[in-house]
Amino acid sequence: MTTKPIALQELPADLDKSRLPGHVAVIMDGNGRWAKQRGLPRIMGHQRGVDTLKDLLRCCRDWGVPALTAYAFSTENWGRPLEEVEFLMTLFERVLRKELKEMMEENVRIRFVGNLESLPPSLQAEIERSMEETKDNLGIQFTVATNYGGRQEIVQACRAIAAKVRQGAIEPEEIDEALVERHLYTCGLPSPDLLIRTSGEMRISNFLLWQMAYAEIYVTPTLWPDFDRAQFHQALSAYQQRERRFGKV
Ligand code: IPE
Ligand code: IPE
Ligand code: MG
Repeated sequence: MTTKPIALQELPADLDKSRLPGHVAVIMDGNGRWAKQRGLPRIMGHQRGVDTLKDLLRCCRDWGVPALTAYAFSTENWGRPLEEVEFLMTLFERVLRKELKEMMEENVRIRFVGNLESLPPSLQAEIERSMEETKDNLGIQFTVATNYGGRQEIVQACRAIAAKVRQGAIEPEEIDEALVERHLYTCGLPSPDLLIRTSGEMRISNFLLWQMAYAEIYVTPTLWPDFDRAQFHQALSAYQQRERRFGKV
């Protein structure tokens, strides 16, 4: 991991440690626009976006946020130009290979969610290796949504449950929210408390549809490569000012 900022290593004093989100999810958006503003090819924005993610992960650890989930590639992103898709797949593989050692040192448990079987085989191998090697780490839970779609996740859960019903392993009446949750890719991970989306877009874009039921949503106009600790501080401040009612009064 590069770029170790000197400031803001500690949790900012105005934030309440006991009311931090237990799980932050981020839609890392705006890489292409960031590059375009600088007259660079879109892929340079993705390249820079990796540094942002690395520092956010480290910041979560420094400040005591126990789980971070990042949306890296959606099931719809295959519709982008082939060069961009290929660049992203290679980037994911390269970054994983390079960062695994440091993730071990920093006690990060990495996990990938999404339809992983359709990713390039060499990337799948790196993904499996990183998940296997870090599986007993007890530090921050870092989840990367890759070839992920919320609808697709729910469809595959329905299929798995239907197959069990057909085998007679479960009765339809036994299907409840907990059972559905156990068949989602995110099984075992608490639902996000805070969703951050960069680049100003006011939409979910098929991210964690089930899990977002009661997430607090924070949208910032900042483009992902420019999202830093000061921005994260603002997001957490806004979160701590929200009144979470969960349907009650
Ligand atoms: C998000 O940035 C990264 C991925 C979807 C992989 P974009 O590439 O969507 O950037 P914009 O939205 O075009 O600026
Ligand atoms: C969402 O961003 C997907 C990721 C960040 C990986 P997009 O840029 O693909 O979403 P839309 O197209 O603006 O909805
Ligand atoms: Mg985008």
